Amino acid sequence: MTPALDAAALAQLFTDARTHNAWRDEPVDAAQLRQLYDLAKWGPTAMNTSPLRVCFVQSPEARERLIPLMAEGNRAKTAAAPAVALLGRDLDFHTQMPLLAPHASAVAERLAGQPAAREGMSSLNAGLQIGYFILAARSLGLDCGPMAGFDAAAVDAAFWGGRAVKTMVVCNLGHGDPAGLRARAARLAFEDACVVA
Ligand SMILES: Cc1cc2nc3c(=O)[nH]c(=O)nc-3n(C[C@H](O)[C@H](O)[C@H](O)COP(=O)(O)O)c2cc1C
Repeated sequence: MTPALDAAALAQLFTDARTHNAWRDEPVDAAQLRQLYDLAKWGPTAMNTSPLRVCFVQSPEARERLIPLMAEGNRAKTAAAPAVALLGRDLDFHTQMPLLAPHASAVAERLAGQPAAREGMSSLNAGLQIGYFILAARSLGLDCGPMAGFDAAAVDAAFWGGRAVKTMVVCNLGHGDPAGLRARAARLAFEDACVVA
């Protein structure tokens, strides 16, 4: 039987982990970013479609292009973060299905003519993968600051080189400074969010 993670691991992933707004002066290196993707990619998606695409905004020039495209309240913390990832969904994910889902070649062919179906599938599955990405980062000892407040059309045009990728979340990464945290907000109780049928 696979044992449950211990309390310290659960705290690191969930109960103690916070969304960070301020960052300690500790770099995140390229090897950590690769390790992060290489963990997150194993989370499950429908038919293994894996529509998440990631742009790590690393150079100072690229960071400068991104900051004005963030919502006002997200600019300073994005400028200060040790690393920043653009998390997007590839509307043309079906072109990778021969590799990722050889068992579903008929579906892949059908999807080529069904942009609306690809829209829905990419939203659901890249959304799941963004959750895996955040938890993978936490499992590696990194903190995250995910944000949906940015000019998505402008970010898409500036960073995806004409590919059919729609940015969903900009995620700051680093080692969070607890001084920048707001008080932890409540979560819904089991009784308020769950039913047992
Ligand atoms: C998809 C997503 C979008 C978010 N967008 C923003 C944002 O634009 N600006 C911001 O300051 N926080 C943003 N947040 C942070 C949330 O408010 C935060 O994760 C939530 O309140 C839980 O905080 P906690 O993890 O510290 O408990 C976003 C979080 C997620 C997951």
